[in-house]
Amino acid sequence: MYDGDIASVLISEQQIKDKVTELAKQVEEDYPNSGDLLLVGVLKGAVMFMTDFARALPQPAQLEFMAVSSYGSSTSSSGVVRILKDLDRDIAGKHVLILEDIIDSGLTLSWLLKNLQARNPASLEVCTLLRKPDAVQVDVPVRYVGFDIPNEFVVGYGLDYAERYRDLPYIGSLDPKVYTSGA
Ligand code: XMP
Ligand code: MG
Repeated sequence: MYDGDIASVLISEQQIKDKVTELAKQVEEDYPNSGDLLLVGVLKGAVMFMTDFARALPQPAQLEFMAVSSYGSSTSSSGVVRILKDLDRDIAGKHVLILEDIIDSGLTLSWLLKNLQARNPASLEVCTLLRKPDAVQVDVPVRYVGFDIPNEFVVGYGLDYAERYRDLPYIGSLDPKVYTSGA
């Protein structure tokens, strides 16, 4: 699949699976007797992570999705965020855990945290599968991090380039020829 577009596999399917299990265990330990957790997945990138995480979590959780778009180029964000799809429910008094695919500059997440905090949840934390080193440029409190990865554009397991590659079961770095060929 996508022959030649992936320069290298950064995180294998098995490594993702093991990490999701490990993150779910940590969350399970941190939220004893909290009632149903409310997982907020950020569309579309976090879809695979969300569905795998929810099934790996030993306690009941409810699933909500939000879609945001940050203005900027296709490979970097500006921090100006627009809600494309809001939550369907009120989160006041709920224990909310945001599930993110990747934190790059941190600008999108920083905006999202402020937006959701204003809705008065009982608690609000972030669990991201991937984080790039640039994330330290904006101070966003991220409780759970799957993998810190190098500053390369990655795709797969929900992450896209121009809506492609989301369906890859692993995370790979995209061969730069893909975004320089004009395809
Ligand atoms: P910021 O910079 O606001 O960006 O933390 C977060 C969003 O940018 C996208 N993003 C990527 N998407 N491969 C992708 O497919 C990447 O390497 C990558 N880096 C950032 C992503 O939508 C994320 O939510
Ligand atoms: Mg994207």
